[in-house]
Amino acid sequence: MFLCCWLGLVALIPTTLSTNPGVKVRLTEKGIEYGRQLGMAVIQQKLGSIKIPDFSGTEKVSPIGKVQYSLSNMHIVNVGLPKSSVDLVPGTGVRMSIGDAFISLNGNWRVKYLRIIKDSGSFDLDVNGLSIATTISIKSDETGRPAVSSDSCSATVGSAKVKFHGGASWLYNLFTTFIDKALRNALQKQICPLVADAVSDLNPQLKTLNVLAKVDKYAEIEYSMVSSPTVLKSSIDLSLKGEFYNIGKHQEPPFSPAAFYLPPQNNNMLYIGMSAFTVNSAAFVYNNAGVLSLSITDDMIPKSSSIRLNTKTFGAFIPQIAKQFPGLMMKLLVKTVKTPTLTFEPNNATVQATTTVTAFAIQPNSTLSPLFVLNLEASVSARMFVSEMKLAAAVTLNKMDLTLDKSYVGDFQVRSAFLYNNTQLAKGYPLPTIGKMKLMNTQLDVLKDYILIGTDVQFS
Ligand SMILES: *[C@@H]1O[C@H](CO)[C@@H](O)[C@H](O)[C@H]1NC(C)=O
Ligand SMILES: *[C@@H]1O[C@H](CO)[C@@H](O)[C@H](O)[C@H]1NC(C)=O
Ligand SMILES: *[C@@H]1O[C@H](CO)[C@@H](O)[C@H](O)[C@H]1NC(C)=O
Repeated sequence: MFLCCWLGLVALIPTTLSTNPGVKVRLTEKGIEYGRQLGMAVIQQKLGSIKIPDFSGTEKVSPIGKVQYSLSNMHIVNVGLPKSSVDLVPGTGVRMSIGDAFISLNGNWRVKYLRIIKDSGSFDLDVNGLSIATTISIKSDETGRPAVSSDSCSATVGSAKVKFHGGASWLYNLFTTFIDKALRNALQKQICPLVADAVSDLNPQLKTLNVLAKVDKYAEIEYSMVSSPTVLKSSIDLSLKGEFYNIGKHQEPPFSPAAFYLPPQNNNMLYIGMSAFTVNSAAFVYNNAGVLSLSITDDMIPKSSSIRLNTKTFGAFIPQIAKQFPGLMMKLLVKTVKTPTLTFEPNNATVQATTTVTAFAIQPNSTLSPLFVLNLEASVSARMFVSEMKLAAAVTLNKMDLTLDKSYVGDFQVRSAFLYNNTQLAKGYPLPTIGKMKLMNTQLDVLKDYILIGTDVQFS
């Protein structure tokens, strides 16, 4: 029995591990370059905040003899990071290198020698040839959001040049022989912790990734990562769940995501691939919530159309309607019978839906009198696009098969005569966002089994 259970468990493991993502996000070199610029601004600010403690000591300086010195009130006045690069280390993370950086600081000096002579003044110090190298790893945290950490770091300070204001020339000897090294050490020791700080400061930002984004009162979409990010030669790929759920009730649909692979494009900073699975999970959710219905009334038909939704129009096909309900407006209620299915083919998103259409005559006292129920099999093609952080679609209903299900007005022949050609703007769905992110140069392609959104981003 033990063996049996164990085998059972082993059999379960592969299915739980092989969750294909519904959404894939790719950060390209262009995106990483933008990240480098943002990162350098943060590191520059961090380095500017370095506090160098006062220090003092006693040294023998020829020809003076024993000199007591102290340096105080040192603060950074300028930090320059002219050269930096970010390289991807496949399988590991990101390697960031900063070279030829410089830090300028000023402070006060004070010396006492020959027991009674005191002197003081200020000094400027230019530290050049600073280099910093750090490796940043990217993982998935316990909530499925990305998390970064600085794994290794080295910092070396090149040369230091001091300029004393006031004081005698032998001060330079004191500085170059003794103080220079102490000051460089003090700086060097603080750089890596500050870089690690700058990196981990990214995490609160990344924590704002909306892993569970509310869509409306029925649905939410889960964007948590299904595996740790993959660092490739020229991109970082994230695999997200990308699944719609009924709010508060996470029931899995009877279908699962198929594997799909993003094309090797790199013009945009960011690519988001959304699978047919994600959209079908939305259909499943809305169908379960019983809200996949559409009420069509006359005011939804363009004013310019000569076809009106009334008993006169329908009377042309079904004379009983015009006879029994003369001069009344009508209403059509379209309701899904089963979950519609969506397929993505290149440049073509198609929805197959099986619905019922119930036609009513609207009585003067607003009572709805049922006229007939039709079964409708429809195929809808869509052109999809992105507007203002939301994914939306222009839908064209291009084919439908009608059969009579029930008639309240006597028997009649259904011809596929009603071709309601309606181009409707579907409601937008929120895309995954981080903090105050703005999308720019966004485009959308429908490909086999998924849609690809390429975009640049800007953080404000
Ligand atoms: C779109 O795809 C559907 C189903 O795959 C197909 O029936 C339809 O003809 C296609 N439309 C176009 C414009 O290619
Ligand atoms: C509304 O009008 C219809 C048709 O005249 C009638 O059969 C029905 O009883 C009326 N309903 C109400 C609530 O008055
Ligand atoms: C639907 O309307 C659009 C634009 O109004 C038109 O281009 C298209 O041919 C129409 N389709 C059908 C099936 O009538």
